[in-house]
Amino acid sequence: MSVPGLGRLLAAEIRERLASTTINIGSDGRSDVALFTVDHAAFSRIGDLRLAEDVFVEVGRTLRSEGDHPRWIVNRIWKRARIERALALWRQQSRRGRGATYRVVTRVQSERAFRRTDLRRELEAAIAHSQRNWKQADPAALEVWITEYARGQFVAGLRLSSAAMRQHKGRAIERRGALRPTVAAAMVRLAGKGGQLLDPCCGSGTILLEATNVGWDVFGMDIDSRSVKIARSNVPTARVEVADVRSLPFDANSFDACVSNLPFGRQFRVDEPIEHWLSKATHELSRVTRVGGRLVLLTPVLPTSILPEALTLRHETHIRLLGIPTVIWGLERDDQSLA
Ligand SMILES: C[S@@+](CC[C@H](N)C(=O)[O-])C[C@H]1O[C@@H](n2cnc3c(N)ncnc32)[C@H](O)[C@@H]1O
Repeated sequence: MSVPGLGRLLAAEIRERLASTTINIGSDGRSDVALFTVDHAAFSRIGDLRLAEDVFVEVGRTLRSEGDHPRWIVNRIWKRARIERALALWRQQSRRGRGATYRVVTRVQSERAFRRTDLRRELEAAIAHSQRNWKQADPAALEVWITEYARGQFVAGLRLSSAAMRQHKGRAIERRGALRPTVAAAMVRLAGKGGQLLDPCCGSGTILLEATNVGWDVFGMDIDSRSVKIARSNVPTARVEVADVRSLPFDANSFDACVSNLPFGRQFRVDEPIEHWLSKATHELSRVTRVGGRLVLLTPVLPTSILPEALTLRHETHIRLLGIPTVIWGLERDDQSLA
C-alpha cells in the first residue's frame, strides 16, 4: 500500500527492486494498492521498498464484483490451503511462532451494498472457525486486512510491516509538518539517478535523508535557522545552511537536481503573494540546475504562466496527504536562455 496517488511509482519500484512482472494497481480510497507476485529470493527483500507504507502477504482475492455479500466474499478468500501458505510466509518474515493474537482491519470503498463492520464480523467468524487457537486482541501480533482494492473486488492479506516501514530509519529529530518519508522517497526517485542534489526548503531534512540513502550528494537550505540545526543533526553527511530559496549562494548550473517540499498552507506561510514567491523560487532553482537536470517540487498549485522559460513541465503526480490533495511537479531544465 502507498500514499494515494503513488501507486504507479510504487509499481515501478517493485519492478526494479523485486523483479516482479505481474503488478495490478488499485485503490481502496485511503491508499493505493499494488498487487504483485515475487519469487522467494525477492520476498526476503520486501522490506526494502521505500515507497510502500505497508506490505502484506496475500491470502486471497475476489476478481469480479459479483454477489456483493460479506459471506460470499469471505468464503471465496478465507480458504485453508491459502491461509497456511500465507501464514508460513508471515512467520518467516515476522519471525513469530505459532499461536497468535489477531485483529481484523476492513476497508470498503462505499457502504452501499453492506456495512464495513458486517464484512469484519464475517471474517472474524471465519477465522474463529478455522483457527481455533487464535485470540482477538488490539494491538495484536497478526493483523488480517481485507480491503476493496477496486470497485466490488476484495483482497485479504496478513500484514508483514509495522509503522517502522513508513517512518524509515534515521531521523533522530521529528518535526511538525515534516514530509512523509515514502513521499520524499518518491520525489527523489523522480529526480533520476545520483549526482548533486539540493533541497532549498529542507525543513528537518526528510528529502535529504532519502536522497543520501540512494547515493546522492546532498545540500540543504532553509530560511529558518532552527530547521537548519535539525536537518544537520538528522543528516550529518549533508551540507546545510541558512538561505532564502529566492536568492541562493550557488553558481549557475551547480546541481543535477533540486527536490523540495515547498512551504504552503497555514503552517508555513510565505511573506508575499504565493504566485510571486513561486515565480522567484522557480527562477532561482532553474538558474542553479544544470541543463538536463530535474526539479521535483511538491506544492498544490504551480501555474505554468509563472515558470521561467528554461523549465519544461514533464509530469504531474496527484497525491493526497492526510486527505488533502496536492501535486508533485516534475520539471526539466532545458537549454534556453535564463532571461
Ligand atoms: C513544508 S516545509 C518542509 C518540510 C520538510 N520537507 C521536512 O520534511 O521537514 C517548508 C520549509 O520551507 C522553509 N521556507 C519557507 N520560506 C523559505 C524561503 N524563502 N527560503 C528557504 N526556505 C523557506 C520553512 O522554514 C520550512 O522549513
